[in-house]
Amino acid sequence: MSRIAYVNGAYVPLRSASVSIMDRGFQFADSIYEVWAIRGGRMFDTEAHMTRLQRSLAELRITPPMSEASLMAVMRETMRRNRVSDGIVYVQVSRGAASRDHVFPAPGTAPTIVVTAKNLDRAAIAKRAAAGIKVISAPETRWRRRDIKSVNLLPNVLARQGAKEKGAFEAWFVDEHGLVTEGTSSNAWIVDSNGVLRTRELSFDILHGVTRGAVLKIAQERQMKVEERPFTIEEAKTAREAFITAASNAATAAIEIDGVRIGDGKPGSVTEALRAAYLGA
Ligand code: PDD
Repeated sequence: MSRIAYVNGAYVPLRSASVSIMDRGFQFADSIYEVWAIRGGRMFDTEAHMTRLQRSLAELRITPPMSEASLMAVMRETMRRNRVSDGIVYVQVSRGAASRDHVFPAPGTAPTIVVTAKNLDRAAIAKRAAAGIKVISAPETRWRRRDIKSVNLLPNVLARQGAKEKGAFEAWFVDEHGLVTEGTSSNAWIVDSNGVLRTRELSFDILHGVTRGAVLKIAQERQMKVEERPFTIEEAKTAREAFITAASNAATAAIEIDGVRIGDGKPGSVTEALRAAYLGA
């Protein structure tokens, strides 16, 4: 089955789908994106991702290309045309195509919108969660508005490649105070040596992860000891448990950080319980 993308009003074969070389997403990373997970045909955290997409657009003063209802209809049609039941829907909106100039283009320049959807290997994701992942630390080198889900992802790409080359799945950025900000495409959590579930508080320093918010709510409802407070990479290495949250990976245990084994080297009970609750298992 050939895949289909939605580009600026038309459904086109992914192979031939394209945007202009003058697109500001390509020229300047002047573009935002959003990712929804679909499991068993069900879209997770639908409204929260839509709200964050609108917020990213507003923060960068990019004109929304269409109403939320229309966008949802396009997303559902893209999923349908690609027969996605377990995977992701991806939306990217840039400030549009215009002659290269750092200053915003003329008012009325149409934003570029692209929607794609693909199935992911459900068995591989489950296997990864069951085994747990390895994490490495990396210096925080990103800009200071990480709360905006922009495609300005070069530091994330480099850190993630660094992780792969060391046999790890994710890299955790560490700020100038030795505190973990987040992963390259996930939020970072620990169950500290006192048994307190911790993740960094919301600020410009991290993406306000939708899965983070959902997992936090579950933990609070279960009256777990939770603190939105940053932790050092050293605290993470001596934690009882560590895990990541992201749309595509739900809550997934980290069993090794910089070669140091976490807990007994297997996904911990808190992580497992939160993952199961989030997935509705
Ligand atoms: N990444 N932090 C960063 C830097 C991210 O890129 C992501 C998501 C998250 C987790 O956010 P959420 O729970 O809303 O997915 C945290 C997406 C999935 C991606 O880049 O593909």
